[in-house]
Amino acid sequence: MSKTIIISNRLPVQLQISDGGMSAIPSVGGLATGMKSVHDGKNSLWIGWSGLTEEDTPESLVPAIDKALAEQGCAQVSLTKEEVDGFYFGFSNRTIWPLFHYFLEYTEFELSFWETYRQVNQKFADAILAQSGPDDIIWVHDYQLMLVPQMVKEKNPGATIGFFLHIPFPSYEIFRTMPWREEVLQGLLGSDLIGFHTYDYERHFLSSVRRLLSLDVHFNDIYLDNRIIKVDSFPMGIDYKRFHEAAVANDQLKGKERSDLQKKLDDHKASAPGTKLILSIDRLDYSKGIAKRINAFEYFLRKYPEYKEKMRLIILAVPSRSNVPQYMLLKKEIDELVGRINGELSTVNWTPIWYFYRSMPFENLIDLYTSCDIAWLTPLRDGMNLVAKEYIATRTDKTGVLILSEMAGSAYEMNEALLINPNNFEQQADTLKRAFEMPKEEQMARNMFLQKRLERYNVEVWAQEFMSVLKNQKSEEQEQV
Ligand code: UDP
Ligand code: G6P
Repeated sequence: MSKTIIISNRLPVQLQISDGGMSAIPSVGGLATGMKSVHDGKNSLWIGWSGLTEEDTPESLVPAIDKALAEQGCAQVSLTKEEVDGFYFGFSNRTIWPLFHYFLEYTEFELSFWETYRQVNQKFADAILAQSGPDDIIWVHDYQLMLVPQMVKEKNPGATIGFFLHIPFPSYEIFRTMPWREEVLQGLLGSDLIGFHTYDYERHFLSSVRRLLSLDVHFNDIYLDNRIIKVDSFPMGIDYKRFHEAAVANDQLKGKERSDLQKKLDDHKASAPGTKLILSIDRLDYSKGIAKRINAFEYFLRKYPEYKEKMRLIILAVPSRSNVPQYMLLKKEIDELVGRINGELSTVNWTPIWYFYRSMPFENLIDLYTSCDIAWLTPLRDGMNLVAKEYIATRTDKTGVLILSEMAGSAYEMNEALLINPNNFEQQADTLKRAFEMPKEEQMARNMFLQKRLERYNVEVWAQEFMSVLKNQKSEEQEQV
């Protein structure tokens, strides 16, 4: 029977070694949380990196690791410390990530990073070739593995290969600054179908293909030798039911059954009934605009001092890529900003910002989503932003206001949210005020549309649509050859 091979740098779980034993924690980030709902472990095999380096993994634990992963339908590609440094911390997160998010000033073009990236992509391609059968469908994910499609196609020309990019594809003017731009495009063109979150990313990609490789492009088909490669946009959804049902269940929990975090949030709400909670959840990443958001919050409190003691910002910043210098600097900047603003503006009864630097289990995310009156998400660039969708899905009584950056892919589908430009502090201050004052009826009217759309275009529908276009594409291609 044919199966789907999902391949991404991150597996849905991350392994950790402590005191000679092994533990697994769920991976953070939209790719892992989204694909987890699609991967059933029976008809799919997920190949990826476990998060451990070969040097950190005692030989004696390898069989147990492989067994534990196999039980979840996963297989690992093991990487040395040097490979992780050059491929993951290097090319993936010091070259592609900043460049594709328009942070040119953070982008490093380092030949050794590129060489390791190529070598590690070959390792992933070899793992696919070793584990896949002739009828399997191969689905490669994200910017860490952009050379894999071509590497697989070269050895197995009949393979059905889909690729999905979870981050923005930048405009040609940005992309063309990369020294290895042609190789990256050719790597992707090993696929039969290439998917993006939005039409804009798709358009940018096609324009780069046309201008850098001089290939024939008709609408969204690319003609290469005797192949036709389809390019399309598939905005990723969430597991709506899982989030919505968890929120319904949370509503029904009484006193003692509620989590410690929920009890604290309940106590806070009871003690300050007129106060509203604003939520921001992101990986600690410069693309998410967290520092700017904190500055904008200060701007708001100074512009509208009557909201002091009435609004509190809860920031959940999840540790991410902390070996990369820009992320270390950002952590320091945010620590200092929160400290300064809380120091300057707090009163005996009120601290403007509650700041958590950690990841939270699913149940606590639900506590935060359901307890906060406003979600404020201000990425400077974001491929999609699933947090925005998750917040709306948990609003069981349909109240709640979503303030969302127009630079997030999800903004294209969430017109009923209050869309803002994260660089415009004046607009953000006025929007926070508007969110605070928004009548319940208006909140509910907006969220009703959003929820309907999220429920319909959930992550399962997203994956099915991608797969069905991929299969059609392959059979059309075979008919034409
Ligand atoms: N998330 C998580 N643990 C946390 C905080 C967030 O698993 O402590 C999840 C969140 O539910 C969401 C994902 O991380 O599904 C973040 O995805 P998003 O698309 O918003 O941003 P990304 O991190 O992929 O850039
Ligand atoms: C984004 C990327 C994913 C990545 C995730 C978390 O969602 O698109 O590919 O897995 O961030 O980042 P990390 O570097 O921890 O895998």
